Amino acid sequence: ADIISTVEFNHTGELLATGDKGGRVVIFQREPESKNAPHSQGEYDVYSTFQSHEPEFDYLKSLEIEEKINKIKWLPQQNAAHSLLSTNDKTIKLWKITERDKRPEGYNLKDEEGKLKDLSTVTSLQVPVLKPMDLMVEVSPRRIFANGHTYHINSISVNSDCETYMSADDLRINLWHLAVTDRSFSILDWRPENVKDGTQGMVSRERHWHHCNLFVYSSSKGSLRLCDMRAAALCDKHSKLVPLPDDPAGRTGLPERLSAQSQVAHKHSARHLGSRDCLMTVMVWAQRGGDLPAETDEVHDYLRSKLCSLYENDCIFDKFECAWNGSDSVIMTGAYNNFFRMFDRNTKRDVTLEASRESSKPRAVLKPRRVCVGGKRRRDDISVDSLDFTKKILHTAWHPAENIIAIAATNNLYIFQDKVNSDVH
Ligand SMILES: *[C@@H]1O[C@H](CO)[C@@H](O)[C@H](O)[C@H]1NC(C)=O
Ligand SMILES: *[C@@H]1O[C@H](CO)[C@@H](O)[C@H](O)[C@H]1NC(C)=O
Repeated sequence: ADIISTVEFNHTGELLATGDKGGRVVIFQREPESKNAPHSQGEYDVYSTFQSHEPEFDYLKSLEIEEKINKIKWLPQQNAAHSLLSTNDKTIKLWKITERDKRPEGYNLKDEEGKLKDLSTVTSLQVPVLKPMDLMVEVSPRRIFANGHTYHINSISVNSDCETYMSADDLRINLWHLAVTDRSFSILDWRPENVKDGTQGMVSRERHWHHCNLFVYSSSKGSLRLCDMRAAALCDKHSKLVPLPDDPAGRTGLPERLSAQSQVAHKHSARHLGSRDCLMTVMVWAQRGGDLPAETDEVHDYLRSKLCSLYENDCIFDKFECAWNGSDSVIMTGAYNNFFRMFDRNTKRDVTLEASRESSKPRAVLKPRRVCVGGKRRRDDISVDSLDFTKKILHTAWHPAENIIAIAATNNLYIFQDKVNSDVH
């Protein structure tokens, strides 16, 4: 139940939310810098934990609905409260997170426990006062958006107007207003009968932060599509199709399933996209001009010899995500054996790192790892045959402005940052 299923920083990076298989959301807050304890500066501590979703049963379809949180998205902060959207397979919820450090005392008609007083004992009127108390974080459900999706919701994305958001399942994208829970507008709707052999269903979408009307989504066939909502209310005719190149990095002979894009990550500067397919590659796409991925990087080339076993243990269904760093120069994505990879687009260098207790000790340094496929083996190399496929890093997040990364490795959350490391379990 405590397997982490999503990680998301808020827009300034001070808060980090994780969702898990048991329907819980845990929010971490970065400690403000303290002069007395320079080593604990900027670490993330638990701020609030709450149950977002419960298991449910759909009686009409005789289906159990898991409580697992598929995605969390923060809304930009507009007043003292924080808000976030969380979703499981079917239901999206809007939560409000508020802090309270004062409580009112001295009511006229009720006592300290909130019970009504006997009116005959009330002889004079007093003005209630606010008394300080220990900080309390309160989380309250604000809206519940249900019944918008027949298939499993795989992504949500808040629009830049901060009033609307989109949600996507395998065949449909809905547009919601944050204040309206009983209606949503389908901007894309593929009928199952039109989807031949499951070749088209979309897997994820991400909207354009600066241009509310633009959004991009990926399909299980591997292509990305760019849509403009100004062009038509129903966006089933994409304005631009970016097809998968015929044979990026020698895909020939690989099953189609492997080219499904599991996630699209927008660069902050909005000109490039990053995407990760289900198994082998991370791609960088130029949104303007180029029709093909500008770059394709192999995430774990060493697995080519292992494709059969990956098939057998269902690894080909793993959905790895990718994330850009704050200055859009490095893209990060997860791999097996608790490894994760970083590709630096400027220096064209890449590195394999490992999330482990060892590497997350305070002041520890992340050491590059190397996987070897037969041949000469250097000290510290790990052989491809000893990789653990049950340990996989599917979800990662990068602080929007600093070199801080959050890595979800099964039920452990690792936060690596420039001087201090911490791990949270
Ligand atoms: C992110 O969280 C921090 C810490 O509470 C807050 O100060 C900041 O305004 C939040 N950022 C946004 C853009 O909501
Ligand atoms: C992004 O990564 C590069 C290379 O490691 C680093 O120099 C830069 O500071 C990073 N940017 C941010 C905002 O973390």
